[in-house]
Amino acid sequence: MAATASAASGAVPTVVTFSVNGHTQKVLQRLAEDDRTGSDVTATTSLADYLRLHRGLSGTKIMCREGMCGACVVNVTSQNPATGQMESRAVNSCMAPVRACQDWQVETVEGVGNRRDGYHPVQARLAHMNGTQCGYCSPGMVMSMYSLLKSGEEVTPERVEQTMDGNICRCTGYRPILDAFKTFAADTDEKTRQLVRDIEETAGCRGGSGGACRPSAACAGCPRAAVALTAAEDDWRLPESLPQALRDAAALSAGGRRVRLRGRQHLRWCSGQI
Ligand code: FES
Ligand code: FES
Repeated sequence: MAATASAASGAVPTVVTFSVNGHTQKVLQRLAEDDRTGSDVTATTSLADYLRLHRGLSGTKIMCREGMCGACVVNVTSQNPATGQMESRAVNSCMAPVRACQDWQVETVEGVGNRRDGYHPVQARLAHMNGTQCGYCSPGMVMSMYSLLKSGEEVTPERVEQTMDGNICRCTGYRPILDAFKTFAADTDEKTRQLVRDIEETAGCRGGSGGACRPSAACAGCPRAAVALTAAEDDWRLPESLPQALRDAAALSAGGRRVRLRGRQHLRWCSGQI
Protein backbone atom coordinates (compact mmCIF):
# COMPACT_ATOMS: atom_id res chain seq x y z
CA MET A 1 0.00 0.00 0.00
CA ALA A 2 2.80 2.42 0.96
CA ALA A 3 4.86 1.53 -2.08
CA THR A 4 1.80 1.94 -4.34
CA ALA A 5 0.96 5.36 -2.93
CA SER A 6 4.53 6.53 -3.34
CA ALA A 7 4.75 5.16 -6.85
CA ALA A 8 1.46 6.83 -7.77
CA SER A 9 2.75 10.22 -6.62
CA GLY A 10 6.12 9.62 -8.26
CA ALA A 11 7.83 10.25 -4.93
CA VAL A 12 10.75 8.11 -3.78
CA PRO A 13 10.73 7.42 0.00
CA THR A 14 13.91 8.48 1.76
CA VAL A 15 15.53 6.11 4.23
CA VAL A 16 17.89 7.56 6.82
CA THR A 17 20.23 5.06 8.50
CA PHE A 18 22.06 5.76 11.74
CA SER A 19 22.56 4.13 15.13
CA VAL A 20 21.32 4.90 18.62
CA ASN A 21 23.29 3.37 21.48
CA GLY A 22 24.72 0.81 19.04
CA HIS A 23 21.35 -0.20 17.55
CA THR A 24 20.82 0.46 13.84
CA GLN A 25 17.86 2.68 12.94
CA LYS A 26 16.36 2.69 9.45
CA VAL A 27 13.91 5.54 9.36
CA LEU A 28 11.59 6.15 6.43
CA GLN A 29 10.98 9.84 5.97
CA ARG A 30 7.59 11.12 4.82
CA LEU A 31 8.00 13.47 1.91
CA ALA A 32 5.29 15.87 3.04
CA GLU A 33 3.29 16.54 6.20
CA ASP A 34 0.15 15.13 4.53
CA ASP A 35 1.92 12.01 3.24
CA ARG A 36 0.13 9.08 4.92
CA THR A 37 2.19 6.25 3.45
CA GLY A 38 3.05 4.75 6.81
CA SER A 39 6.49 6.30 7.09
CA ASP A 40 8.09 7.06 10.45
CA VAL A 41 9.05 10.72 10.50
CA THR A 42 8.46 13.94 8.60
CA ALA A 43 11.08 16.24 7.16
CA THR A 44 10.90 18.37 10.30
CA THR A 45 11.00 15.64 12.97
CA SER A 46 13.87 16.41 15.30
CA LEU A 47 16.29 13.81 16.64
CA ALA A 48 15.08 14.71 20.16
CA ASP A 49 11.46 13.89 19.26
CA TYR A 50 12.54 10.74 17.45
CA LEU A 51 14.46 9.50 20.52
CA ARG A 52 11.66 10.29 22.98
CA LEU A 53 8.52 9.53 20.96
CA HIS A 54 9.66 6.81 18.56
CA ARG A 55 12.34 5.04 20.60
CA GLY A 56 11.01 5.67 24.11
CA LEU A 57 14.37 7.11 25.22
CA SER A 58 12.96 9.79 27.48
CA GLY A 59 16.27 10.39 29.26
CA THR A 60 16.91 13.01 26.58
CA LYS A 61 14.91 16.03 27.71
CA ILE A 62 13.33 18.87 25.74
CA MET A 63 12.75 22.36 27.08
CA CYS A 64 13.41 25.31 24.76
CA ARG A 65 13.50 23.55 21.37
CA GLU A 66 15.82 26.25 20.07
CA GLY A 67 19.32 25.17 21.06
CA MET A 68 19.55 27.37 24.15
CA CYS A 69 19.14 25.17 27.25
CA GLY A 70 21.16 21.99 26.58
CA ALA A 71 18.49 19.67 28.03
CA CYS A 72 18.46 17.66 24.79
CA VAL A 73 22.22 17.12 24.34
CA VAL A 74 23.33 13.76 22.95
CA ASN A 75 26.73 12.57 21.78
CA VAL A 76 27.28 12.11 18.05
CA THR A 77 30.23 10.43 16.36
CA SER A 78 30.42 10.95 12.61
CA GLN A 79 32.83 11.55 9.80
CA ASN A 80 34.04 15.09 9.31
CA PRO A 81 33.49 15.63 5.56
CA ALA A 82 36.42 18.07 5.38
CA THR A 83 39.05 15.83 7.00
CA GLY A 84 37.54 12.36 6.56
CA GLN A 85 38.23 11.72 10.27
CA MET A 86 35.66 10.35 12.70
CA GLU A 87 34.83 13.03 15.28
CA SER A 88 32.80 12.95 18.45
CA ARG A 89 30.85 15.95 19.72
CA ALA A 90 27.86 17.12 21.75
CA VAL A 91 24.76 17.89 19.65
CA ASN A 92 21.56 19.67 20.64
CA SER A 93 19.16 17.03 19.37
CA CYS A 94 16.21 19.47 19.25
CA MET A 95 18.03 21.28 16.46
CA ALA A 96 19.00 18.21 14.43
CA PRO A 97 16.37 16.91 11.99
CA VAL A 98 16.40 13.13 11.67
CA ARG A 99 17.02 13.51 7.95
CA ALA A 100 20.45 15.00 8.79
CA CYS A 101 21.49 11.96 10.85
CA GLN A 102 22.67 9.69 8.03
CA ASP A 103 25.57 7.52 9.26
CA TRP A 104 25.64 9.18 12.69
CA GLN A 105 26.43 7.13 15.77
CA VAL A 106 24.20 8.64 18.46
CA GLU A 107 24.65 7.97 22.16
CA THR A 108 22.03 8.99 24.70
CA VAL A 109 22.22 9.18 28.47
CA GLU A 110 20.64 5.70 28.72
CA GLY A 111 23.47 4.25 26.62
CA VAL A 112 26.18 5.96 28.64
CA GLY A 113 25.06 4.41 31.94
CA ASN A 114 21.98 3.32 33.80
CA ARG A 115 20.87 1.70 37.02
CA ARG A 116 20.79 -1.80 35.59
CA ASP A 117 24.21 -1.84 33.93
CA GLY A 118 25.96 0.65 36.21
CA TYR A 119 26.53 4.37 35.96
CA HIS A 120 29.27 6.09 34.01
CA PRO A 121 31.73 8.04 36.22
CA VAL A 122 30.29 11.31 34.83
CA GLN A 123 26.84 10.33 36.13
CA ALA A 124 28.17 8.95 39.42
CA ARG A 125 30.23 12.02 40.27
CA LEU A 126 27.41 14.43 39.38
CA ALA A 127 24.98 12.58 41.66
CA HIS A 128 27.37 12.01 44.55
CA MET A 129 28.59 15.60 44.58
CA ASN A 130 24.99 16.88 44.77
CA GLY A 131 24.93 18.29 41.25
CA THR A 132 21.38 17.18 40.63
CA GLN A 133 18.15 18.30 42.25
CA CYS A 134 15.03 17.90 40.09
CA GLY A 135 17.30 16.16 37.59
CA TYR A 136 15.73 17.66 34.48
CA CYS A 137 18.96 19.24 33.26
CA SER A 138 21.17 16.37 34.43
CA PRO A 139 21.06 14.18 31.29
CA GLY A 140 22.10 17.13 29.13
CA MET A 141 24.87 18.06 31.58
CA VAL A 142 26.10 14.47 31.61
CA MET A 143 26.10 14.23 27.83
CA SER A 144 27.97 17.53 27.41
CA MET A 145 30.68 16.38 29.83
CA TYR A 146 30.76 12.87 28.37
CA SER A 147 31.22 14.41 24.91
CA LEU A 148 34.13 16.52 26.13
CA LEU A 149 35.84 13.41 27.53
CA LYS A 150 35.12 11.39 24.40
CA SER A 151 36.45 14.11 22.11
CA GLY A 152 39.94 13.45 23.47
CA GLU A 153 40.54 17.12 24.26
CA GLU A 154 42.60 17.98 27.32
CA VAL A 155 40.20 18.54 30.22
CA THR A 156 40.98 21.66 32.25
CA PRO A 157 38.74 23.54 34.71
CA GLU A 158 38.36 26.32 32.11
CA ARG A 159 37.38 23.85 29.40
CA VAL A 160 34.75 22.32 31.71
CA GLU A 161 33.25 25.77 32.31
CA GLN A 162 33.19 26.50 28.57
CA THR A 163 31.56 23.13 27.87
CA MET A 164 28.78 23.73 30.39
CA ASP A 165 28.12 27.18 28.93
CA GLY A 166 25.20 25.82 26.87
CA ASN A 167 23.52 23.89 29.68
CA ILE A 168 20.98 25.63 31.90
CA CYS A 169 20.06 24.40 35.39
CA ARG A 170 17.09 26.05 37.03
CA CYS A 171 17.39 24.62 40.52
CA THR A 172 20.66 23.07 41.74
CA GLY A 173 23.08 25.90 41.15
CA TYR A 174 26.18 25.56 39.04
CA ARG A 175 28.81 25.23 41.78
CA PRO A 176 28.24 21.52 42.59
CA ILE A 177 27.80 20.68 38.91
CA LEU A 178 31.06 22.34 37.92
CA ASP A 179 32.86 20.94 40.97
CA ALA A 180 31.77 17.42 40.01
CA PHE A 181 32.95 17.77 36.43
CA LYS A 182 36.20 19.54 37.30
CA THR A 183 37.26 16.34 39.06
CA PHE A 184 38.00 15.06 35.54
CA ALA A 185 40.63 17.74 34.99
CA ALA A 186 44.16 16.40 34.58
CA ASP A 187 45.54 18.54 37.41
CA THR A 188 43.08 17.33 40.07
CA ASP A 189 44.66 17.44 43.56
CA GLU A 190 45.20 14.37 45.78
CA LYS A 191 42.20 15.14 48.04
CA THR A 192 39.88 15.19 45.03
CA ARG A 193 41.44 12.03 43.61
CA GLN A 194 40.65 10.20 46.85
CA LEU A 195 37.08 11.51 46.81
CA VAL A 196 36.67 10.31 43.23
CA ARG A 197 38.00 6.85 44.14
CA ASP A 198 35.44 6.62 46.93
CA ILE A 199 32.59 7.66 44.62
CA GLU A 200 33.52 5.17 41.96
CA GLU A 201 33.93 2.32 44.41
CA THR A 202 30.30 2.75 45.41
CA ALA A 203 28.79 3.78 42.09
CA GLY A 204 30.91 2.21 39.38
CA CYS A 205 30.01 -1.45 39.93
CA ARG A 206 28.53 -3.05 36.81
CA GLY A 207 27.89 -6.42 38.43
CA GLY A 208 29.65 -9.65 37.54
CA SER A 209 27.11 -10.53 34.84
CA GLY A 210 26.49 -7.01 33.59
CA GLY A 211 22.92 -7.31 34.85
CA ALA A 212 21.09 -6.03 37.90
CA CYS A 213 23.01 -5.64 41.17
CA ARG A 214 23.23 -9.05 42.87
CA PRO A 215 25.04 -8.96 46.21
CA SER A 216 27.95 -11.39 46.46
CA ALA A 217 31.17 -11.77 48.46
CA ALA A 218 32.83 -9.27 46.10
CA CYS A 219 30.38 -6.58 47.22
CA ALA A 220 31.71 -6.29 50.79
CA GLY A 221 31.46 -2.68 51.88
CA CYS A 222 29.26 -1.60 48.96
CA PRO A 223 26.12 0.21 50.19
CA ARG A 224 24.13 -1.26 47.30
CA ALA A 225 24.69 -4.72 48.76
CA ALA A 226 22.72 -3.79 51.88
CA VAL A 227 19.45 -5.42 50.83
CA ALA A 228 18.08 -5.55 54.35
CA LEU A 229 19.33 -3.49 57.30
CA THR A 230 18.05 -3.62 60.85
CA ALA A 231 18.77 -0.80 63.29
CA ALA A 232 17.13 -0.56 66.70
CA GLU A 233 13.39 -0.89 66.09
CA ASP A 234 13.59 -0.12 62.36
CA ASP A 235 13.62 -2.74 59.64
CA TRP A 236 14.99 -1.44 56.32
CA ARG A 237 14.62 -3.03 52.90
CA LEU A 238 16.11 -2.03 49.57
CA PRO A 239 13.87 -3.64 46.92
CA GLU A 240 15.16 -4.17 43.38
CA SER A 241 11.74 -4.24 41.68
CA LEU A 242 8.13 -3.13 42.20
CA PRO A 243 6.87 -6.69 42.94
CA GLN A 244 9.69 -7.06 45.49
CA ALA A 245 8.74 -3.68 47.02
CA LEU A 246 5.10 -4.75 47.35
CA ARG A 247 6.11 -8.07 48.94
CA ASP A 248 8.42 -6.25 51.38
CA ALA A 249 5.71 -3.71 52.23
CA ALA A 250 3.20 -6.50 52.91
CA ALA A 251 5.70 -8.38 55.11
CA LEU A 252 6.75 -5.29 57.05
CA SER A 253 3.22 -4.08 57.67
CA ALA A 254 2.15 -7.43 59.14
CA GLY A 255 1.06 -6.93 62.72
CA GLY A 256 0.04 -3.32 62.14
CA ARG A 257 3.56 -1.85 61.83
CA ARG A 258 3.94 1.47 60.02
CA VAL A 259 5.83 1.45 56.71
CA ARG A 260 7.66 4.48 55.28
CA LEU A 261 9.14 4.90 51.83
CA ARG A 262 12.49 6.72 51.64
CA GLY A 263 14.42 7.76 48.51
CA ARG A 264 18.21 7.40 48.39
CA GLN A 265 20.53 9.52 46.31
CA HIS A 266 20.82 7.07 43.43
CA LEU A 267 17.04 6.54 43.44
CA ARG A 268 16.55 10.28 43.12
CA TRP A 269 18.95 10.14 40.19
CA CYS A 270 16.81 7.49 38.52
CA SER A 271 13.69 9.62 38.69
CA GLY A 272 15.61 12.42 37.00
CA GLN A 273 16.08 10.31 33.90
CA ILE A 274 12.48 9.17 33.53
S1 FES B 1 15.60 21.64 24.12
FE1 FES B 1 16.81 23.34 24.74
S2 FES B 1 18.65 23.10 23.58
FE2 FES B 1 17.34 21.53 22.85
S1 FES C 1 17.12 21.94 36.43
FE1 FES C 1 19.08 21.30 37.01
S2 FES C 1 18.72 19.94 38.69
FE2 FES C 1 16.78 20.86 38.28
